[in-house]
Amino acid sequence: MALKIISLVFVLLLGVVGGSTVPPVYIFGDSTADVGNNNFLPGNTAKANFPHNGIDFPHQKATGRFSNGFNGVDFIAKTMGHLRSPPPFLSFTNTTFHKHIFKGVNFASGGSGILDSTGSTLTMRMQLKHFSTVRSNISARVGEKAADEILSKSIFIVSTGGNDLFAFFAQFGPVNTTEREKFVATLISNYEDHIKTLYNLGARKFAIIGVPNVGCCPSIRSSNPTGDCINDLNAYASEFNEATKSLMHKLSSTYKGMKHAIGSTYEVVSNIMKNPHELVRG
Ligand SMILES: *[C@@H]1O[C@H](CO)[C@@H](O)[C@H](O)[C@H]1NC(C)=O
Ligand SMILES: *[C@@H]1O[C@H](CO)[C@@H](O)[C@H](O)[C@H]1NC(C)=O
Ligand SMILES: *[C@@H]1O[C@H](CO)[C@@H](O)[C@H](O)[C@H]1NC(C)=O
Repeated sequence: MALKIISLVFVLLLGVVGGSTVPPVYIFGDSTADVGNNNFLPGNTAKANFPHNGIDFPHQKATGRFSNGFNGVDFIAKTMGHLRSPPPFLSFTNTTFHKHIFKGVNFASGGSGILDSTGSTLTMRMQLKHFSTVRSNISARVGEKAADEILSKSIFIVSTGGNDLFAFFAQFGPVNTTEREKFVATLISNYEDHIKTLYNLGARKFAIIGVPNVGCCPSIRSSNPTGDCINDLNAYASEFNEATKSLMHKLSSTYKGMKHAIGSTYEVVSNIMKNPHELVRG
């Protein structure tokens, strides 16, 4: 299926196929990647640990994934040889923490975005701060040099940006091209800072997931009297995705040892919407 294709693309591009060891995976982002961090946050914002979430998950468990079953990052992790995504950072006890930090950790938090002002859950800045702690715990155990070695072979998945677009659109609606470009440039500049932070902490292999055609989300369509996708919002998404590609290309050609792959959920979702019958076959 579509998600499997994305996973395969990542695995091929990042060159981990055929290796005998499963590389550690560290995951950042929003509800497309959260596997339960938000369960541990106070209040009721952006939670999914109740039915019908999880009805197709093993034992029909509502884990906090914003999904009926496994989510996108679970499928990518599976393709890499993991059972599913590593556990949410906030779920660790001291014992499980030390067992897991060498295999991978999921820091993603539904509702978050690239900007600190987006959402009220774990911002990307906070997620990176948590990873920085994990890095220091790894180097405390094995030393700085070995920590660098381990992290340089790990995969860093980042799936974010959609909520920033929703928030901007909710506030300003469709704006002219100049204003839209200005906003996308702000997002990209913040995204760049986050990627550099990860690089400086030892990350080298990046799997970036673009934003889908967010203007076609059911909740967004229901706000349109015609029920159609909101094309103005999709235009934000396209522009953001293009700018992300340029950013990652620039960084990969500037920073030593950095590699990246980008998965286009925009294309995947568009194809599914164009050919829904393709899915029924499986
Ligand atoms: C947590 O685990 C580590 C390693 O197993 C140990 O050195 C440390 O003392 C533990 N800390 C607490 C607060 O239990
Ligand atoms: C991980 O490292 C941080 C910062 O060095 C330290 O405060 C914390 O106790 C460590 N966590 C565990 C579980 O060992
Ligand atoms: C775009 O919108 C901004 C804010 O409303 C306005 O100041 C600017 O003149 C507009 N630019 C063009 C090219 O229409």
